[in-house]
Amino acid sequence: MPHLAAPDSTEGASAGVVASPSPSQSPSSVPPSRLGSGAMFDGIAKRYDVLNRVMSFGLDRRWRRLAVAACSLKPGGRILDLATGTADVALEVLRQQPDTTVVGLDPSASMLAVGERKVAAAGLSERLELRQGEAEELPFDDNSFDAAIIAWGIRNVADRPAALREMARVVKPAGRVVILESVEPRSGIVAPAARLYLHHVVPRLGAWLSREKAYRYLQKSIAAFPSPSDFGRVMTAAGLEVLAIRPQTFGVCCIFEARPAQVATEGEG
Ligand SMILES: C[S@@+](CC[C@H](N)C(=O)[O-])C[C@H]1O[C@@H](n2cnc3c(N)ncnc32)[C@H](O)[C@@H]1O
Repeated sequence: MPHLAAPDSTEGASAGVVASPSPSQSPSSVPPSRLGSGAMFDGIAKRYDVLNRVMSFGLDRRWRRLAVAACSLKPGGRILDLATGTADVALEVLRQQPDTTVVGLDPSASMLAVGERKVAAAGLSERLELRQGEAEELPFDDNSFDAAIIAWGIRNVADRPAALREMARVVKPAGRVVILESVEPRSGIVAPAARLYLHHVVPRLGAWLSREKAYRYLQKSIAAFPSPSDFGRVMTAAGLEVLAIRPQTFGVCCIFEARPAQVATEGEG
């Protein structure tokens, strides 16, 4: 729920082009078109983990755990964590399956620097590599990962279909593509309370705790994100076979589990 993202256009796609990060730029000075980009996250990197814990009431850890479990980790596997930020998902992968290697990718140098310290403190630098880059253009070979995961990152990606196609490309045919994202609860008895929290408490609490305006944009991007079923269709159009869509905690976030769609070869079907 508390995860920052760009304000979206009416189509639900992130606004703006993500450019290379500039560590000196604070979110307050980031133009609206780049909210949610690595440049914006550079400015809040040091406070990001604490903000998440506080604003999700600690539930972010549970949601990450469940999303990583959906990756069907196997010993000896190679896992890609996109929008890795401060590397919490990447570290959770190694907690659940220590015999794995993980690559975490993110455009924000400052978020990665926080992540590097956590990885080093855990003594996992040999198994977990952090790289700077963007989800829309992955510097990896086809079929080179057993799973790819992106947690609270797809909302920030300027070209979502491109990122989804890239995930489908780099993951092996039987592998998993897992997406964890905040969504606006639209039904159920707690939906009004959750929306009140998202629209009125999160922006103020975030701005106060982070001393940055960036959190004011959070609720807009979540409200503009497609419904889970609509986003499932975006995934299908990008070459993924959606296996499950699992709403979490009264529907405030959602885990999408998929695999690369099998392309029928000539003569089949
Ligand atoms: C809300 S954080 C999520 C971090 C982490 N996955 C977690 O579980 O806490 C979103 C991250 O998306 C990254 N991001 C922004 N644009 C991106 C892009 N085009 N490709 C990959 N990551 C991007 C930001 O730099 C930021 O670290």
